[in-house]
Amino acid sequence: MTRQQQNAPIITIDGASGTGKGTISQLLADRLGWNFLDSGALYRVLGLAAQKHSVALDNEPALEVLAQHLDVQFIARKNDFPRIILEGEEVTDLIRTEKIGNAASIVGALPAVRTALLSRQRDFREAPGLVADGRDMGTVVFPDAELKIFLLASLEERASRRLKQLKERGINVTLHDLIEELRARDRRDKERAVAPLKPAEDAICIDTDPLTIEQVVERMMSEIYQKKAFPATLNPVNKITDMSVAE
Ligand code: DC
Repeated sequence: MTRQQQNAPIITIDGASGTGKGTISQLLADRLGWNFLDSGALYRVLGLAAQKHSVALDNEPALEVLAQHLDVQFIARKNDFPRIILEGEEVTDLIRTEKIGNAASIVGALPAVRTALLSRQRDFREAPGLVADGRDMGTVVFPDAELKIFLLASLEERASRRLKQLKERGINVTLHDLIEELRARDRRDKERAVAPLKPAEDAICIDTDPLTIEQVVERMMSEIYQKKAFPATLNPVNKITDMSVAE
């Protein structure tokens, strides 16, 4: 890891599926002009690669090898999620189904897989900074992050947000099925032995139920302003003075 990578500041955003984490993290990264790691996408790509190469989701040694050699590229886009290329093929939309989300959650419970994906995730740390979205960003992958956020939302709210998102993409599911799938995924993500979904001790928890996406981003920006660890120049939009941050 280069010195520039080691020094780049990090904001981690963790939480369960459907808390709006992905959209919020991507908006925040854009607003700050920072890099963005969607770690869930990495687990999803592995789930898809397993399917493609007919590797069973409980075959830990084979999945470890697949994770170590995963030929995946993330191509950053302004105001949008990165394009994702697996073995030369565009999989940006393909990995967003509930089936692949479940596969990601199953392979993510395997310790050898998590270890194999660690350095890949840490490589996203680049100047001027990184917004890292996932389940264990603040607890395991970037325990030294300057700011750690943990997003909360009720199961019902998360399922109805997900339903809306999927409908917009033309994918048909029922609210009932989504609630059951989210419940099962929550249980697996929280109860796994390695890097379970939980807030870091020094994380700030935000309940997103009563807030819009924009309001959550604003709330995070105000946390950022209060952190003396961040450079005063990071928000060109709201022009803050050096005094307000670096006093
Ligand atoms: O954030 P997401 O819904 O795209 O993630 C899909 C699954 O990947 C999630 O249910 C659990 C797994 N995952 C993980 O184990 N660790 C992460 N840091 C991110 C995702």
